[in-house]
Amino acid sequence: MNTHELLNEAARKIRVSEKILILTGAGISAESGVPTFRAGDNVWQGMPFQELSSAKMVNEDLPLVWEWFDYRRGVVAECSPNEAHVAIAEAEHSGRFAEFTLVTQNVDGLHRDAGSKNLIELHGHINTARCLSCRELISVLEIPSEDRPPTCPSCDDSMRPHVVLFGENLDEDNLNSAFEKAETCDVCVVIGTSSVVYPASSIPQIAKRSGAFCIEVNPQETDLSGMFDICLRMNAVESIPKLFGRVEGEE
Ligand code: APR
Repeated sequence: MNTHELLNEAARKIRVSEKILILTGAGISAESGVPTFRAGDNVWQGMPFQELSSAKMVNEDLPLVWEWFDYRRGVVAECSPNEAHVAIAEAEHSGRFAEFTLVTQNVDGLHRDAGSKNLIELHGHINTARCLSCRELISVLEIPSEDRPPTCPSCDDSMRPHVVLFGENLDEDNLNSAFEKAETCDVCVVIGTSSVVYPASSIPQIAKRSGAFCIEVNPQETDLSGMFDICLRMNAVESIPKLFGRVEGEE
C-alpha cells in the first residue's frame, strides 16, 4: 500500500474504534517549534540534557536545574498547539469514542492548551513546581522569576520542577492507568516518539499483546516500528487531522 492508502486504512480503523489510546512524544510538538530530544546535540551550556534533567542534579545544583527549566519554559512559552494537537482534542470532544485516552510523554502542556481533557502527562508538566518536602504543587507562573529555587508557600522548603527526571520513577497511578488503558483499547496510535524511553515505550507493546490494532505516526523508523500494524511515515500536522477526519469512500 502507498502512504495515501495506509492513511486511509488507518483512518478507517480509527473510525470504527470504540476504545482508543493515543501516546504522544516530542515529535507532535516539533511543528509547534518545541525541539525534540534526540535530534540535535542535546547539550545546553556545555552540559548534556540527560545530566541537567537528572535526579542527581536536583540534589547537587537545584538552581542550575531551575535555570535549565526556565530556559525550556521560555522556549515553550513562544509555542502554540498545532493542528495535530487540536485534531486530537476535537476527536475527544466529538464523543464518538466510548473511551478516549491520551497519554503524553511531553511536559510542554500543548495538549492541555489545545483542550484535551482525558490526559495522562506521564512525565509531568513544565509549568508546575513541586515542594521537595511536602510535595505541594503550584503553578510556576505564580512564582516571581527571581525566586529560584522557589520557596514552598506551605512549608518553606525549596521547590523543584514537577517533571520526571532521569533516574526517577514515574507516578505509579498515572502509569497504572496508562497500562490499564493499553490492555483494554482496541486501537493504539503512537505519534512522534522514538520509543526508546521505558516505561512509556511498553504502552504500545502491551496494547499489541492485548489485541489492539497499532498505528505508528513518525517520519522516521523507530526501534518499535516492526510491531505496528500500520506505520505512517508522515509528520503529525500533515497526518493527524486526516486520521481523525472523514474517511475517503465512507459516508
Ligand atoms: N511529526 C511526527 N513525528 C516527528 C516529527 C513530526 N513533525 N518530527 C520528529 N518526529 C519524531 C522523530 O522522528 C522521533 O522519532 O519524533 C520523535 C522524537 O523522539 P525523541 O526526541 O526521542 O522524543 P520522545 O520519544 O518524546 O522522548 C521520550 O525522553 O528525554 C526523555 O523525558 C524525555 O519525554 C522524553 C522522552
